[in-house]
Amino acid sequence: MSLKKEIERRRTFAVISHPDAGKTTLTEKLLLFGGAIHVAGAVKSNKIKKTATSDWMEIEKQRGISVATSVMGFDYDAHKINILDTPGHQDFAEDTFRTLTAVDSVIVVVDVAKGVETQTRKLMEVCRMRNTPVMIFVNKLDREGRDPFEILDELEEELKINVRPLSWPIEMGERFKGVYNLHRNSLDLYKPSKQVVTESIHLDIDAAELNQHLGASLSDKLRDDLELITEVYPEFDRETYLAGNLAPVFFGSALNNFGVKELLDCFVEIAPSPRPIEAIEREVDPYEKDFSGFVFKIHANMDPNHRSRIAFVKICSGRFERNVNYKHVRFNRMMRFSSPTAFMAQKKEIMDEAFAGDIVGLPDTGNFKIGDTLTSGEELHFKGLPSFSPEMFKYIENADPMKSKQLQKGVEQLMDEGVAQLFTNQFNGRRIIGTVGQLQFEVIQYRLLHEYGAQCRWEPINLYKACWIESDHPSELEEFKKRKYQYMAHDKEGRDVFLAESNYILMMAQQDFKNIRFHFSSEY
Ligand code: G4P
Repeated sequence: MSLKKEIERRRTFAVISHPDAGKTTLTEKLLLFGGAIHVAGAVKSNKIKKTATSDWMEIEKQRGISVATSVMGFDYDAHKINILDTPGHQDFAEDTFRTLTAVDSVIVVVDVAKGVETQTRKLMEVCRMRNTPVMIFVNKLDREGRDPFEILDELEEELKINVRPLSWPIEMGERFKGVYNLHRNSLDLYKPSKQVVTESIHLDIDAAELNQHLGASLSDKLRDDLELITEVYPEFDRETYLAGNLAPVFFGSALNNFGVKELLDCFVEIAPSPRPIEAIEREVDPYEKDFSGFVFKIHANMDPNHRSRIAFVKICSGRFERNVNYKHVRFNRMMRFSSPTAFMAQKKEIMDEAFAGDIVGLPDTGNFKIGDTLTSGEELHFKGLPSFSPEMFKYIENADPMKSKQLQKGVEQLMDEGVAQLFTNQFNGRRIIGTVGQLQFEVIQYRLLHEYGAQCRWEPINLYKACWIESDHPSELEEFKKRKYQYMAHDKEGRDVFLAESNYILMMAQQDFKNIRFHFSSEY
């Protein structure tokens, strides 16, 4: 197959949702259709189940499972599908943001009873920033939920995107009859089943047979609803969807495998194949012959005796081959990989070649960090992997003076993996770790001990935000840094960061130093 055809047939995406909306269940059903698994229940939930407090075994289990389910690749019809998994727990939100930089589109799952929830809202902000095409699956129609029109309003308002239903539910809960598929003009009758694919009947909405299946009153209501949809919502337009401005909406029940095949069939038809990616130097087209890719995730080995890791590389252009020399741009050094892995279904296997859109896993002993670029030789730096200001901050202190080297190395490697962010105070050299949630501090402490034999202690520090600062007026910047010397830090790339103690202090700083720009993310 030609390079162009190989790349064109790829669909790389993530399923995102608020915990419990049905992401795991939907992913599993998608794999079932792809023949990647044969029975439901084979995909273990990649989440720390309903634990607000931390549970070490759960975290370790989660890490074990998530290597296997990080990327699930399978063939469906003529397409090669790559589903990238995202952690469900909100304390790992940064991980999810980074994964979203490696996908070409997303499917958002929403619970019909709960509507749009916090986590969905946050993840959609990231999708909007990148104009990622979005498809929505409204789940759990086998249960009582909200009125579908009301759900559509909420989706538009809360997710700030235009929507267009491509399927429409007929009743819900115990009375749920099925959906009318507007994309294919077919009536899909609901038959609760965890394994069997539902039969659908090709029926024009005006066909008289509709009454035989639904009865006169439901048929009339369906016709009225569809008329309203046509009046209120824009025609589905693929270009608008691809630009990230229109989300097609499907209704169904992942658990009962209902509406999933329709979603998948429409998905492979309209979802984008790999798209051009911005590098600082230029835009990189996936169909270019030369290989390029970037590391968006690093996964540490579960076995503390083998400190090897897997670097997940998203291929941005061309073909990646085993045992071929590629340039590690940050090191300006050629490297060769003898055992890169492909992710097929839930297995990792050594592969010989992969194409733009695919993810390859490279065994790593500490050469990579998040954002690193590999190319056939060109100097490229891909954009779009910013660090965001953490929400929580603590000083990290060495609790075992005999193991300071181990602590140093452990902290460095965990930060390269993107577990949290490190800031070094420019005034006193103390190190501050910033995270999204409390759980990350516990994970760091645990992993430092078990993987590096180092002990750390946390000490409180009262901070509100970390702001990356810049200015076109060097003297004002210098003046600011002098004035705020106790609150100036370097991030791990050595960039200047202002650690604001409170919103008020930040506002005052912004007011007093009008020529300084304060950014809440490291890429601006
Ligand atoms: P998540 O990954 O988004 O967190 O959600 P997950 O798929 O784990 O689903 C959360 C719960 O919702 C699960 O129940 C799952 O069985 C249920 N669920 C998913 N899709 C549907 C659906 O279409 N209809 C109904 N009625 N339920 C659905 P659980 O009891 O939390 O877990 P489990 O014991 O069933 O695994």
